[in-house]
Amino acid sequence: MNDIFLRACRGEAVEYTPVWIMRQAGRYLPQYQKIREKVDFLTLCKTPELAAEVTVQPVDILGVDAAILFSDILIPVEAMGMRLRFYEKRGPVLSRPIRSLKSVKKLKPIKPEEDVPFVLKTIKILRRRLRRKVPLIGFAGAPFTLATYMIEGGTSKHFVYTKTMMFKTPDVFHSLMETVTDSTIRYLSAQIKAGVQAIQIFDSWAGVLSPDDYRLFSLPYVIRIVEELSSSGIPIIYFVNNCAGLLEEIKKVPSEVIGIDWRVDIADAIKRLGKDRVIQGNLDPTALFSDPATLREKVIGILRKAKKAKGHIFNLGHGILPQSSPEMAKRLVEMVHEFSSK
Ligand code: CP3
Repeated sequence: MNDIFLRACRGEAVEYTPVWIMRQAGRYLPQYQKIREKVDFLTLCKTPELAAEVTVQPVDILGVDAAILFSDILIPVEAMGMRLRFYEKRGPVLSRPIRSLKSVKKLKPIKPEEDVPFVLKTIKILRRRLRRKVPLIGFAGAPFTLATYMIEGGTSKHFVYTKTMMFKTPDVFHSLMETVTDSTIRYLSAQIKAGVQAIQIFDSWAGVLSPDDYRLFSLPYVIRIVEELSSSGIPIIYFVNNCAGLLEEIKKVPSEVIGIDWRVDIADAIKRLGKDRVIQGNLDPTALFSDPATLREKVIGILRKAKKAKGHIFNLGHGILPQSSPEMAKRLVEMVHEFSSK
């Protein structure tokens, strides 16, 4: 198996910089769309053979150094008792959003083997199918990011309901965060038991918090998850979108790898996170809409700056956009491998 990704996570010296792409299985791939024509997104997530199939697609098509389980961060939220639907243009919608202590108390702690057996089955199929290929990354949303969906009822711009709860009734908010954190630990432990070889925690919305609020309302819960999972010995990547204002706080999370978005200079992030961290990132996803020569300059720039870190895993700074060209994504992977080879 190509284990360069796992070795890079641990900060070991590697022959070249490993690369994978957030949302690498998805709508920009015609092979994914072909499967999606037949089933809706949630059915795809819940059908292990199909979920495994789309997980492997980018490994075969792009040549990335890791696979990421095909699922969604909101799957465990549904398992906690909320009704989840996905709409083509609107994205995810959770009915009866959480706005009171009473609704927090109604959430049930997730029992992964009973509630999400399809996730565990997908992981088992994947470990077999990826045996001679690449490692498998499992994932979960960070509690704050999940809480925003649970409180807003879907995607949001200003997070008014979330912040109202945080500021007006912090006890209710913390109670929700405790509940989500407990379930996330169970969910990730089950993924590890089923066979994932690394974990990424997505804090996609933490960047809307001030550093003081991040320290109070997100950080302690992420630290608890990472600490509880550390005995498993598998590497953990903590990714925060819009991380630039928060790096001094993020540094307190004891994960092996920190994932950063593209709005911060990677050299600056390395300085602020310290020399004992492996960094993942951080190409602007829209760089794939440029031409190969421009892309090459951007890739070389990031690789050069990343040499100062303890280790580097190349990735986009956030998910690949549906309009991206698979050909350019493939070129990106080839460029990272070529220009980082020793
Ligand atoms: O990275 C991968 O390839 C693995 C699969 C994966 C998906 N979602 C598949 C997906 C992962 C890791 C996620 C995580 C996820 N889901 C996040 C965190 C990462 C991030 O982007 O910040 C978030 C915030 C969600 C919630 C979510 N799921 C939204 C807001 C949407 C709608 C927006 C959109 O892009 O359509 C989804 C749907 C979704 N999740 C799709 C995929 C492939 C598109 C569904 C489709 O096929 O129509």
